[in-house]
Amino acid sequence: MGTGSSKDTEGGSHGREGEGEGEGEGENLDQGGGGQLYVSLKMENYKLKGDLIPHVYGSVPLIGSWDSSKALSMERESASMWELSFVVPPNHETLDFKFLLKPKYTNAPCVVEEGPNRQLIGGTLQGDARLALFKLNGDDGLEYRVFIKADRVSPFDLAASWRAYQENLRPSAVRGIPDVSIDSVPQTGAENGSSASLELDLEHYVVPAPSTCANSGLVYAANMTETPRSLTLSGLFSKSDGPSSAAHSFKDGGDVSVDRPSPIKEMEVVVPDPTKVYLSSGMVESKSVGTLSPLQKQDSHRGLFVDRGVGSPRLVKSSSASTFSFDLKLDTETKNSMPAASGAVAAAAIADQMLGPKEDRHLAIVLVGLPARGKTFTAAKLTRYLRWLGHDTKHFNVGKYRRLKHGANQSADFFRADNPEGIEARNEVAALAFDDMVSWMQEGGQVGVFDATNSTRKRRNMLMKMAEGKCKIIFLETICNDERIIERNIRLKIQQSPDYAEEPDFEAGLRDFKSRLANYEKVYELVEEGSYIKMIDMVSGHGGQIQVNNISGYLPGRIVFFLVNTHLTPRPILLTRHGESRDNVRGRIGGDTVLSDAGELYAKKLSNFVEKRLKSERAASIWTSTLQRTILTASHIGGGFPKIQWRALDEIYAGVCDGMTYEEIKKNMPEEYEARKKDKLRYRYPRGESYLDVIQRLEPVIIELERQRAPVVVISHQAVLRALYAYFADRPLKEIPHIEIPLHTIIEIQMGVTGVQEKRYKLMD
Ligand code: F6P
Repeated sequence: MGTGSSKDTEGGSHGREGEGEGEGEGENLDQGGGGQLYVSLKMENYKLKGDLIPHVYGSVPLIGSWDSSKALSMERESASMWELSFVVPPNHETLDFKFLLKPKYTNAPCVVEEGPNRQLIGGTLQGDARLALFKLNGDDGLEYRVFIKADRVSPFDLAASWRAYQENLRPSAVRGIPDVSIDSVPQTGAENGSSASLELDLEHYVVPAPSTCANSGLVYAANMTETPRSLTLSGLFSKSDGPSSAAHSFKDGGDVSVDRPSPIKEMEVVVPDPTKVYLSSGMVESKSVGTLSPLQKQDSHRGLFVDRGVGSPRLVKSSSASTFSFDLKLDTETKNSMPAASGAVAAAAIADQMLGPKEDRHLAIVLVGLPARGKTFTAAKLTRYLRWLGHDTKHFNVGKYRRLKHGANQSADFFRADNPEGIEARNEVAALAFDDMVSWMQEGGQVGVFDATNSTRKRRNMLMKMAEGKCKIIFLETICNDERIIERNIRLKIQQSPDYAEEPDFEAGLRDFKSRLANYEKVYELVEEGSYIKMIDMVSGHGGQIQVNNISGYLPGRIVFFLVNTHLTPRPILLTRHGESRDNVRGRIGGDTVLSDAGELYAKKLSNFVEKRLKSERAASIWTSTLQRTILTASHIGGGFPKIQWRALDEIYAGVCDGMTYEEIKKNMPEEYEARKKDKLRYRYPRGESYLDVIQRLEPVIIELERQRAPVVVISHQAVLRALYAYFADRPLKEIPHIEIPLHTIIEIQMGVTGVQEKRYKLMD
């Protein structure tokens, strides 16, 4: 299979390659010193016969079975070379195995190599094993040259190489590397943090992530986009589009039910005197949950205020102010697009609603770019960010419409510029998707992310015409000049896109996609019209540039800022709550107490974990809040990692309830207690914060986490981590206050080219 490490390990390596290998005369690698043996078996034949795929089968520890039907397929490394790699401890027991050839397409029996079983001891192949001879029917036989190479590598190098290989976007064929594998328990005598056996992962610490965990990287992003409604209603679509289509269900009337920001209750209008509520057409009567406390009354100002949170007066209308109301039912009947947010996001939306042209209330981000430029990934990421901020945002992927209407198996010819039927069919599905997007906006949707190549001016003109008077268009063009990245994206496409799900031959898929790409290249016209954002070579997070033209307004500005700061360099983000505090023990919320004994123990375990996990990461940093319990939790972490205190990471502020137990709040302030229970997302503690407030103040933290290229450990608090986690896991706003973030558990978020993946380590109860 060939990870970078197996191919490139040179000087200093214990491995031996070439003809001299496999003769039983080399040094035995079982000499102690830790690490694992990374073994690469290769077979080479320049005169390949038919479609015979080399396989390996053998004894249980390595291969698992002498049953030829369960043999492991070798991977084609080049036209003549096949490879299989695996990892064993240096002192592994003798591994017996044999090579066999299996026909690719027929059920014809496989051919096992001649001679006795092969034996591997201490990473060394025993006996004269340079050739593998296969006797085929009526033939003299087929000879392969055999190579073996064994390198001793540390668990950290293994984990890194495995990751690097993953980044190459092919499944790892390295057997025995379970995942990112670290030993959090101090190894006495183990050098370089390496352990001497395969028990290097945190088996007994790893806890399963919840089923709704951040694993979007395992799912092709286009599958998660909107399911066409117009065509489904008219019966034109009959097929499902990939495994995730089940995640989208249709409500009566064909409305699409997707994971979208929670329906937000009506925004309420309150006059300073709560007994006098002005009602006018379209205005909603005050239904403030609970009564106004003296504190809330003090807080009442005259003028226009937005979303003061449930339990407090929200929109205060002076008798002289003109009537203005918002209906914030974002689920179905929304007439005005408003974010489910507080602070700057809501204020800007209000200003846009009141002052801006009508079409500016709805924004279409129209992707432009050649295939394999990361458009869908960028679109999905932007959608996630905007939803998290509270903007009602949907991702419309034209490829999904095309697959549903015309099937997933269209060859490159379908995409030829001189194929009029193909062009018409593609324009038709683009128009259908755009129509769906505009209809959804007219029901209140705010931002539509329209994901297609849109690579000709003609196509873009068509979209601009369709948008006239309905929404504002910003083109988002992704340009990539790095051949390596394009190649990687192409491979990812063949692996993940439903377009190639039924293509068993990876190479054939590659050829087809490359010719599809060439078809697009012939007619591609760079964006020079309208409002646009161009992302040029921004993938790695260093270098590259963003060009903008004719961009104004709060939301477009935020989008540009977000795009400037995101990149796909893989790195982990470790999220953890502080160790148990004395207030946790007493059941008191907020406060600023020190750690309990258990909390102190966690701080030590965490330090041990982090130092090992990030041993080879020179630029990693540790972020805490400004509260004692997080600073103390970070206090034992050495390794020279900078520690940064962020006020934005402080726990949700419970205002007048700070320091109380939930029981005390229930007894002494029952209305507050009930109001919070009813709408925990929007409830704002008197003189304190709501979850929506917390999300707003965390926005710079998210931007910085996106921007960082090195690992970050975030030690913070329950409510704050719920909000941060929801961003990475793409969880809807309404779920945020209820997400489980257990104490003494590390949530590792792996950021990278395939999206976001999650792993959890429970260091103690
Ligand atoms: O109880 C620990 C704590 O961090 C409190 O300080 C904070 O008020 C609370 O969790 C937040 O959780 P919830 O929103 O569920 O009350």
